Amino acid sequence: MARRRQLYEGKAKVLFEGPEPGTLVQYFKDDATAGNGAKSGVITGKGVLNNRISEYLMLKLHEINIPTHFLRRLNMREQLIREVEIIPLEVVVRNVAAGSLAKRLGIPEGTRLPRTIIEYYYKNDALGDPMVSEEHIAAFDWAAPQDLDDMNTLALRTNDFLMGLFTAVGITLVDFKLEFGRIWEGEEMHIILADEISPDNCRLWDTKTNEKMDKDRFRRDLGRVEEAYQEVARRLGILPEA
Ligand code: C5P
Repeated sequence: MARRRQLYEGKAKVLFEGPEPGTLVQYFKDDATAGNGAKSGVITGKGVLNNRISEYLMLKLHEINIPTHFLRRLNMREQLIREVEIIPLEVVVRNVAAGSLAKRLGIPEGTRLPRTIIEYYYKNDALGDPMVSEEHIAAFDWAAPQDLDDMNTLALRTNDFLMGLFTAVGITLVDFKLEFGRIWEGEEMHIILADEISPDNCRLWDTKTNEKMDKDRFRRDLGRVEEAYQEVARRLGILPEA
């Protein structure tokens, strides 16, 4: 098969031209970075696991009518996705204090938040993805107020659904990051979920022990990173019992 044209290479993924107009191929690498590139390494087998985990979760989201860019998995490391116009925001949803929120506000990690909190970060590597408010988003026209409303609704529905799904397999969904894109159908524009949903962009803690089962194992040098990703996949029923 002819090699596809590469359109974009990110830290953990590569995007290639898709077989049909309006499609792309998303390739999952084993590369991992943290602290906006300050730390980098390889998590062997991560790409294969994230491809499967993201496929599984996005198909589950389709079942409850949450639109995503996912079309189908092509092979171990690639999936076919819809081409979207990426909205330059990272939408973080938090249920439990951890990471940058715990640090910024001095709240101990693991404290359940009084309500779900949504935060926005401007996607810009050179600036280190700074946190922004609705005011910035409106002023700089990164997303129209109606788009942001749609993103919030989708983010909260995704959170409710994924919290339940993970709780059922003994995992606490602490927080996660979503990205959204625009697609046009005729004159109509829709906002859909893009990127991936995997232990790279979710904090997942074992509900009984609070053991971390996500990229924080890499960020904080906790070891057993591959094993943690595998365990998430196994609990979701994607990998056969060990
Ligand atoms: O670091 P912080 O606490 O702000 O991260 C919140 C959530 O967003 C975590 O689940 C983390 O994995 C995710 N995140 C991400 N990509 C970033 C920043 C955060 O996936 N660039």
